[in-house]
Amino acid sequence: MKILVTGGAGFIGSAVVRQAIGDGHQVVNLDALTYAACLDNVASVADHENYAFEQVDIRDRAALDTVFTKHAPDAVMHLAAESHVDRSIDGPGDFIETNITGTFNLLEAARKYWLEAGRPETFRFHHISTDEVFGSLGKTGQFTEETSYDPRSPYSASKAASDHLVRAWAETYGLPVVLTNCSNNYGPFHFPEKLIPVVILNALAGKEIPIYGDGSNVRDWLYVEDHADALLLVLQKGALNRSYNIGGENERSNLELVQTICAILDRLKPAATPYADLITFVTDRPGHDARYAIDPTRIATELGWRPSVTVEEGLEKTVQWYLDNEDWWRALQNRDGVGQRLGTG
Ligand SMILES: NC(=O)c1ccc[n+]([C@@H]2O[C@H](COP(=O)([O-])OP(=O)(O)OC[C@H]3O[C@@H](n4cnc5c(N)ncnc54)[C@H](O)[C@@H]3O)[C@@H](O)[C@H]2O)c1
Repeated sequence: MKILVTGGAGFIGSAVVRQAIGDGHQVVNLDALTYAACLDNVASVADHENYAFEQVDIRDRAALDTVFTKHAPDAVMHLAAESHVDRSIDGPGDFIETNITGTFNLLEAARKYWLEAGRPETFRFHHISTDEVFGSLGKTGQFTEETSYDPRSPYSASKAASDHLVRAWAETYGLPVVLTNCSNNYGPFHFPEKLIPVVILNALAGKEIPIYGDGSNVRDWLYVEDHADALLLVLQKGALNRSYNIGGENERSNLELVQTICAILDRLKPAATPYADLITFVTDRPGHDARYAIDPTRIATELGWRPSVTVEEGLEKTVQWYLDNEDWWRALQNRDGVGQRLGTG
């Protein structure tokens, strides 16, 4: 299958690109190369005969048309997005333009291409989204595919809008789509402004490890390679126009998560004092959602998908990866805004 992957130089997109090439697919990686992108993430496949790269912004409709005509993909996996909640608080405009208008452009370019190809039933537009569109849970309950949308940050609102556009293009124009909503990812190549890399890198530098609020916010963590595996499965086996929630059933409070990472570092790279001594509670994020949890029953029962690692196993691999790949993360620490407190409102 020839897959057009948008956002393939980002964290999750690059895991999809690497896995798709490994599985024998052809991949066209379309990415604008924003501050969050890194082509080193796909260096392991960049010379493969099945790999192509197009530096294109999804806000540029004409450029998208050119890519569809040139490469004639069998499917689109749409991951390109502005993805950092804190940045969406400081500058929501980019999130509206890329996540909403960009998705609109991509849907229109895909629809034009699909119509001109004679409306092939096998074509798929796979929209990759987040569990954050469902809002915030109390102490109990999980998000299912039937949960009402209730986004609460500019990021999640822009992703929710894009999900609605994709469903509308399926209903109105018959574009063959699938959607996925996933919980928080972590793993290799995670950009060093997100919680888990911040914890690892601050600890290694002997700096304070910031935890928003009292650290009680709960997230459902999934190893990025398990997410990529689930995405490729949904693309190929998912029912037409259906959505699938993807999660690892690995709920942890932020404080528990950070303490686990510190304990792993204490073993893998012991320092004079325990890394947990660096934990510092800082002002909370405005509108910080209390808890996310995914009910993965549909993808488990219909498609037989299960995550391959527990959060402890995945975190161990992740910490080891950061210890082994200092050149990768050092280069990204100079990027705009990295290492600064963003999104305080
Ligand atoms: N990170 C998570 O935990 C998580 C969880 C669930 C869903 N998602 C979704 O998965 C997708 C990928 O997330 P990520 O964490 O890999 O993000 P990321 O920020 O690491 O990567 C995003 C990529 O999109 C590219 N991009 C941004 N704007 C673009 C534009 N206008 N045109 C073309 N390319 C553009 C960037 O250059 C970057 O390579 C997003 O849609 C996100 O909403 C993320």
